[in-house]
Amino acid sequence: MTQPSRPQDGRAALASFVTNRLGRANARPAPAETKAPPANDSPQDFEKLTGYRELRLQRSAADLIGLGNPFFRVHETRAGAQTRIDGEALSNYSSYDYLGLNGHPAVSGAARKAIETFGTSASASRIVAGERPGHLKLERALAAHYRTDACVVLVSGHATNVTAIGAILEAPDVIFHDALIHNSVVTGAQLSGAQRRSFAHNDPAALEKLLEATRHEHRRALIVIEGLYSMDGDAPDLAAFVELKRRYDCWLMVDDAHGLGVLGRTGAGLHEHCGVDASDVDIWMGTLSKTLSSCGGYICGPSVLIEYLKCTAGGFVYSVGMSPPLAAAADAALSVMQAEPERVERLRRNGHQFLALAKKHGLNTGSSLGLAVIPIIVGDSLKAVTLSDRLFKRGINVQPIIHPAVPERSSRLRFFMTSEHTPEQIAQTVATVAEELSALETGATLIEQLMARRGA
Ligand SMILES: Cc1ncc(COP(=O)(O)O)c(C=O)c1O
Repeated sequence: MTQPSRPQDGRAALASFVTNRLGRANARPAPAETKAPPANDSPQDFEKLTGYRELRLQRSAADLIGLGNPFFRVHETRAGAQTRIDGEALSNYSSYDYLGLNGHPAVSGAARKAIETFGTSASASRIVAGERPGHLKLERALAAHYRTDACVVLVSGHATNVTAIGAILEAPDVIFHDALIHNSVVTGAQLSGAQRRSFAHNDPAALEKLLEATRHEHRRALIVIEGLYSMDGDAPDLAAFVELKRRYDCWLMVDDAHGLGVLGRTGAGLHEHCGVDASDVDIWMGTLSKTLSSCGGYICGPSVLIEYLKCTAGGFVYSVGMSPPLAAAADAALSVMQAEPERVERLRRNGHQFLALAKKHGLNTGSSLGLAVIPIIVGDSLKAVTLSDRLFKRGINVQPIIHPAVPERSSRLRFFMTSEHTPEQIAQTVATVAEELSALETGATLIEQLMARRGA
């Protein structure tokens, strides 16, 4: 499928048109007394927050061409392979429930049982309020899964990266991370005060160059990569990163948030996918909110590291312990995942079917492996939002990923697959995407639609 042919100046015209409209909408009457700066000149005005204007600009552009807001839609049911929004049934590709475990009787039953005994809250930090058996059981199960000494779970996956990286590194240290690494890793690095150096996506040779040139300048070094990258659906060559971390004396941390339940024959994660021993990785990080259909994050590693985090890391020591039903749900989901590898096989079949059909239709799926995450890269943000809107109207819920989450020219729709999608559903979805994208590319450009609406 050919890429968009919209002229560059079309976007600029749209941006300037919307900016003017916004400027007028934002204009406020001048105050009678001008001793204090007008409200909208004050840096204390929330509208002056960095990024807010761009947000308004995007929203206004979408409003002007009659697009619905694709974000924050309210689902009226459990959102898995299907969902219901505003009373309408939709095929759903916006759920991390990769193995269909959210709402599984064993998972919901474990959560209910934990509520009956412990209530819904751990009530305070575990260091203050004490442990609940479910915390320890989940941590033992995760440590056994990655064959590490120990594990600690925290209440949020994002906070897990921020807290752990912030606690492990400090100013004389350095963090090397993939250019597409998750925001939580970058935020943790910033908190730590360590120097941050990124290398080209999935490129061990680029990391090696960086290590050769700069490793000697720093004391401790941490390399961070992901299992399955959540924007592109591809995976790194773990063995190559293990070799580099050994040669340059670094720790290696894998954020396996999207790898658990997805990568490898049994869904064990990146190590299984790459045929590498899990113990070759120093720190395994992951989240409970995806395959494990709960909420929270984990760090698995040597017992000294886990003891250190449990006693000193701010996001653990000064934050509430995981809610007992959420710990119980994650533990039960891990057991189902391990006992039923056929779910992983179904997910793989679904992903491969989607990818093969998308390629057949000439859609741009980037470097996706065709597992749990498959992007359809369409070009600019407005085009991605428009396509998502048109698909929504045809019964398909899929989110656009737009700048700044990805570079502007690689805005996309991101399809999350689950083991519960059906072959017919997938075939119909891909055909509909191809049809709507083709109509979008051959129809009036967005700027032309906008001008038509204005009667220009
Ligand atoms: C790679 C990665 N790490 C960490 C997180 C944060 O996890 P959570 O959403 O469970 O807080 C995400 C969230 O999607 C992620 O994709």
